Amino acid sequence: IKVLFVTPEVYPLCKTGGLGDVSAALPVALRELSVDIRLLLPGYPSVLAGLKYKRKVAIFDDLSHFPSATLLSAKLRTGNGRSATSLPVYIIDCPALYQREGGPYLDTAGNDWPDNAVRFGLLSKIAAILACDTSPLTWQPAIVHCNDWQSGIAPAYLHFHSGKKAASLMTIHNLAFQGCFPPSMVAQLGLPARSFDVNGVEYYGNLSFIKAGIFYANHITTVSPSYAREIQQAPLGFGLQGLLATRRQDISGIVNGIDTVEWDPATDPYLSKNYSTQNLSAKISNKLALQQKMGLTSDKDRLLFAAISRFSEQKGYDLILEAAPQLAQIPSQLVVLGNGDAVLEEDLAQLAKNYPGQVAVHIGFDEGLSHLIEAGADCFLMPSRFEPCGLNQMYSQHYGTPPLVHATGGLIDTVVDCTASTLADGTASGFQFHDMTAEAFLEGIQRVVTAYHDKAIWQQLQKNGMRKDFSWRTSAMAYRAIYQSLLAKSQS
Ligand code: ADP
Ligand code: GLC
Repeated sequence: IKVLFVTPEVYPLCKTGGLGDVSAALPVALRELSVDIRLLLPGYPSVLAGLKYKRKVAIFDDLSHFPSATLLSAKLRTGNGRSATSLPVYIIDCPALYQREGGPYLDTAGNDWPDNAVRFGLLSKIAAILACDTSPLTWQPAIVHCNDWQSGIAPAYLHFHSGKKAASLMTIHNLAFQGCFPPSMVAQLGLPARSFDVNGVEYYGNLSFIKAGIFYANHITTVSPSYAREIQQAPLGFGLQGLLATRRQDISGIVNGIDTVEWDPATDPYLSKNYSTQNLSAKISNKLALQQKMGLTSDKDRLLFAAISRFSEQKGYDLILEAAPQLAQIPSQLVVLGNGDAVLEEDLAQLAKNYPGQVAVHIGFDEGLSHLIEAGADCFLMPSRFEPCGLNQMYSQHYGTPPLVHATGGLIDTVVDCTASTLADGTASGFQFHDMTAEAFLEGIQRVVTAYHDKAIWQQLQKNGMRKDFSWRTSAMAYRAIYQSLLAKSQS
C-alpha cells in the first residue's frame, strides 16, 4: 500500500514540537510493516541543507494560484543515523515561500508569517496533485495522510477533483492550532466559492484549514483515545465539537509511540552515563551532571523536578509558578527547558533568579539538553491544561523518571497513576492529578514526595515505566489497518 505522509516538520530536519518526532518515527515504523510511505514537506533552509543527495522529480510552474516550485526527492536517515530504515521524502523547493530565516510558522520576531495561508496552501495543493491522476510522478499513493492544519485543505482540493484520487486521512495533533485566514483566501488558494459554507471550509466567517480537513477527509484520527473523546465536546473541541461529533463514526484515537532508537537510556549519546533497568544506579551520574550544567546545588538526594516544552498556555506553567514557593520548601530543585510565550519566558527566568541553586531555567530549544534532563531528573512535571498525546511523559517513563501529569488527553492514556492496587499489579508508572488548580497539583507533588522517600516504591515505579512498551509498532499497525480499510472502501 502506498501512502503520502504530508507534514510541516520532521525531526531532525525541522522540529518545533511533538509533530516533528511523530513525522520521523511513525513512517519508519510503517515502513517496517511493509507500507510504502513517503513524506512530503516544505523546503525550509534547514531541510534543504540537511539532505545531501536531492533529485529534481517535477516542476510546478503553471499552478495558477502559487509561485513556481520544484519537487525534489531524497532519503532521510532518522534515529541519529543509527536506524536501519531511511525515509523517502519529497521536498517542495519554493524559495519565494520557504527560503527565509526564522521558524517554519513564525518569523524571527515570533509573529506568524503573513503568507502562511499560501505557504501551507502550496503544501496542501501539491499533496493533492500527487494524490490524484494529475500527478507528474509514476509513484501514485492510494492514501494521502495529512497532519494538522498545515495540510488541512488537501482533502478539500481532492474532494473537488473529479478524476481518480487517493483517499484522505486527517490526523489532528492539536486542535488549538486551526489555520484560520480571511475569506478572501478561498479564491486566492483556488478553492471553489461553494466550499465557503458551514458545510465546508467556513469557520465563524473565516477559512479554516483544520476544519477543511475534518470536513472533507475520508477518515480522521487523533493522537490518543481520550483526546478523541474530549474534542467532541466543549471546551476542547475549540468550536469544532459539533462537526467532530457528527463525524464520530469516522474518528479513531491512536496513541503516539516514541522512537526507541533515538530515545534509549542505554545508548543515548547525550547522557553523561548510559543505564538501563539492569544498572539503574548509573542514572544518578546524569543527575549530578545536570545539576552541574544548570548551576544547581550538587546534591544527589535532593528531589529534582523537571519540565520541557513550548511555553504556552496549554502546558500549564502557571501552576508551576504558583506552586513554586511550596516546591522550594520541600526542599526540592526544578529544571525548566523551553521557549515561546514572552511573558512566561520572563516569569520563569525571574523564578530562577529568586531561587538560585534551586531553580534553573534554560530559555531556548536544545535537543541534547532535553535528553539529559529526561535522564537526570527524578520526576517529570506535565501539568498540561490539555494534551492531545504528549511525548515527554513517555520519554520520562522510558528513562526511569516517573512523571506527574494532569489527567487529560493522552496523559490519561499513557501514565498509570500510582495507587496501592497499581503498585500491587506492577502497572504504576507515575502520578495523575485531576483539578487544574495549584492545590491539586501540590497534592500530586506531595504524593510524589512520599513515594520518592520510599526507595522500594520509587524503584518499582521507575522500573515499571522503563519496562512499558512505548514503541510505535502497535500504533503503526492501527494506522495500517485504517489505510487498508480506506483502500477497501475506495475500491468498492
Ligand atoms: P507538543 O507537540 O505539544 O509541543 P509533545 O510532548 O508532543 O508536545 O512534544 C514536544 C517535543 O518537543 C518533545 O520531543 C520535547 O522534548 C520537545 N521540546 C519542546 N520544547 C523543547 C525545547 N525547548 N528544547 C528541546 N526540546 C523541546
Ligand atoms: C501536538 C500535541 C501533543 C502531541 C503532538 C504529536 O503538538 O500538543 O500532545 O504529542 O502533537 O502528536
